[in-house]
Amino acid sequence: MKIIRSATHFGSSKKASLEICRQVLIKKDSVLGFATGSSPMEIYKYLIQYYKEGLVTFKQVTAFNLDEYVGIEKTHPNSYAYFMKDNLFSHIDIDINKCNIENGLADDLEQECENYEKAIDSAGGIDLQILGIGTNGHIGFNEPSDKISAKTHIVKLTQSTIDSNSKYFSDMQMPTKAITMGIASIMKAKKIILIASGKEKAQAIHESLYGEITPKMPASILRLHPDVSVYVDDEAGKFII
Ligand code: F6R
Repeated sequence: MKIIRSATHFGSSKKASLEICRQVLIKKDSVLGFATGSSPMEIYKYLIQYYKEGLVTFKQVTAFNLDEYVGIEKTHPNSYAYFMKDNLFSHIDIDINKCNIENGLADDLEQECENYEKAIDSAGGIDLQILGIGTNGHIGFNEPSDKISAKTHIVKLTQSTIDSNSKYFSDMQMPTKAITMGIASIMKAKKIILIASGKEKAQAIHESLYGEITPKMPASILRLHPDVSVYVDDEAGKFII
């Protein structure tokens, strides 16, 4: 595991975005795993900038998103599908038909999970997965638990996640369930980038890097992966030895 510390979140985001560009330059038809939330937003701004400057093209890239809320329309501003379009996909030359995200409105959600897992495998697996981290150590929506949920599955969100994210929901109650890629779906990615900023992430980063490797702190499991880069700013990295 590589830890890359920068004074600011902008510094971290710039370095992480260059790692993503390098991946796409080396393999034009890379399969990228994307995350939503505030953590990767600056990375996406840099990717848009590099695309506009002609440094990188996403024409042949396939995308898979980590997670989506259950019971929300793709067109709703709080859906993760909308987030990705708004913050990245509509600003770059990626083929929108190759941008995959779980359908939180599927009639058969279990089947949707199975199909999603198969779709990742048929695309050849994820080359590079981008992750944020929850204040409770969750990755994707893999919440702290006694056991690992390996594959894409439906999850009941914890109160801490609802407390962190409900501020974004103004016109509807925040959903209490989501579909998320599982820990094994994430661990199968060839390369993983985790980005964290701000003091509220410092404890989760510290426990993930130095504590017990346990599904009770889902990000700690990333230490078993051979190629993980953790990008932290000074605040998120303040307990790093
Ligand atoms: C989002 C996701 C979540 C977030 C995490 C951090 O797709 O999977 O695990 O990465 O909740 O959220 P932010 O970045 O908003 O602090």
